[in-house]
Amino acid sequence: MPQGVVVIGVQWGDEGKGKIVDYYAANADLVARFQGGNNAGHTIVVQGKQTILHLIPSGVLHPHTHCLIGSGVVVDPEVFLEELEILRKAGIENLEERLSLSDRCHLILDYHKHLDAAREGRTAGKIGTTKRGIGPAYEDRASRRGLRVADLYNEAAFSSRLKANFEEKNFLLKEYYGVLPVPMGEFVEKYRGIATRLKPFVRDVAARLHDAIALGKKILYEGAQGVLLDVDYGTYPYVTSSHTLPSQSALGLGARLPKDTLFVGVMKAYSTRVGEGPFPTELKDALGEKLRDTGQEFGATTGRPRRCGWLDLVAVRHALLTSGISNLAITKGDVLSGLGELKVCTAYEVDGRRYTDRFPADTALLERARPVYATLPGWQESLKLIRSPGDLPKALIEYLRFLEAETHAQVNLVSTGAGREAVIDIRGAF
Ligand code: IMP
Ligand code: MG
Repeated sequence: MPQGVVVIGVQWGDEGKGKIVDYYAANADLVARFQGGNNAGHTIVVQGKQTILHLIPSGVLHPHTHCLIGSGVVVDPEVFLEELEILRKAGIENLEERLSLSDRCHLILDYHKHLDAAREGRTAGKIGTTKRGIGPAYEDRASRRGLRVADLYNEAAFSSRLKANFEEKNFLLKEYYGVLPVPMGEFVEKYRGIATRLKPFVRDVAARLHDAIALGKKILYEGAQGVLLDVDYGTYPYVTSSHTLPSQSALGLGARLPKDTLFVGVMKAYSTRVGEGPFPTELKDALGEKLRDTGQEFGATTGRPRRCGWLDLVAVRHALLTSGISNLAITKGDVLSGLGELKVCTAYEVDGRRYTDRFPADTALLERARPVYATLPGWQESLKLIRSPGDLPKALIEYLRFLEAETHAQVNLVSTGAGREAVIDIRGAF
């Protein structure tokens, strides 16, 4: 693998990034997260055993890696501690030496979760968030009210700023949203305990990464969510509150990328999204349900059923152009096995205009988009046991070639099932 690999989702998240990260992590020295928080859900299956991680980089499942949580990540300290326990129970050891948490990360505190839930409780302006407090924590970062990991170790300043925040948030919760306020209670003691437990992990992540890059170490950058959920370039306002684009990988860790860095876009062979927002190729019929059942399309974080639909190449082209990605990993082609014919959206028609590759800023237009479809033959074979490019069904190879021609991107990897071993490198095979 090149010195740097950045793995990004090119749809609305849940493309199977966890699995592709796990594939590259086998050869990486460090695995780093640079945005989002525990709204993510990365599912990895190793020897039939499934692990779902929300915050700690999924590369931690390879015992030789050191994992970094960069300043661009918002951290719920209780979730961090819970995931440590899950990993310890799974027999993963030496976590103190293997995991670094940036002292610059913003903390997700209880009032952020309450605010997120209060906003989502209203019909107007509902985004369909994960209610993990991600948005309110990023808001506080931008408004300079946030508390960071480093602040946990300055108790006087921490408690006075915490108190001011409680007052402001409780005013909003009570007076504007009409819900119960969050009692401040024993918060200072609670965070004193958390500070002690986090301490062994807190490091200057940017400095550590900088040194690692200078030493020629291999770095894997683990994106969360997907380009179409980017706060600026996604389907605003139905997006997450961080940047999901690959350029965030340098920003959210505070270190330049290695000169030799490969950007990999992970793309599902069809489309899904969770939460509200436009989804032009959504299938609201029995076929959509079949995709959901076969693909086990239920949120790894919230358990919500994911909305399913045909592959949308307008959305993908928008993502590729915005992110500069030209290498793809295709996942979940196995879910399409057995369908007679497959549709792929190659353009939209909206109000007499045709869109092929860029989303308009006015997301409401996408609600009226009529997809234009190409029809391709499906494959009947199961992909589950296929491990070499030569054994892939002809129709699947045609599908991949069609995607390459339509996106001008190259398909590097094809995943044929959930397990760690079910990834095929097809470069140069056809
Ligand atoms: P938030 O990130 O919890 O604020 O949610 C904002 C939007 O992003 C909602 O539509 C969520 O369903 C979606 N979202 C956030 N994280 C993920 C993810 O990891 N996969 C898929 N959708 C996500
Ligand atoms: Mg997910």
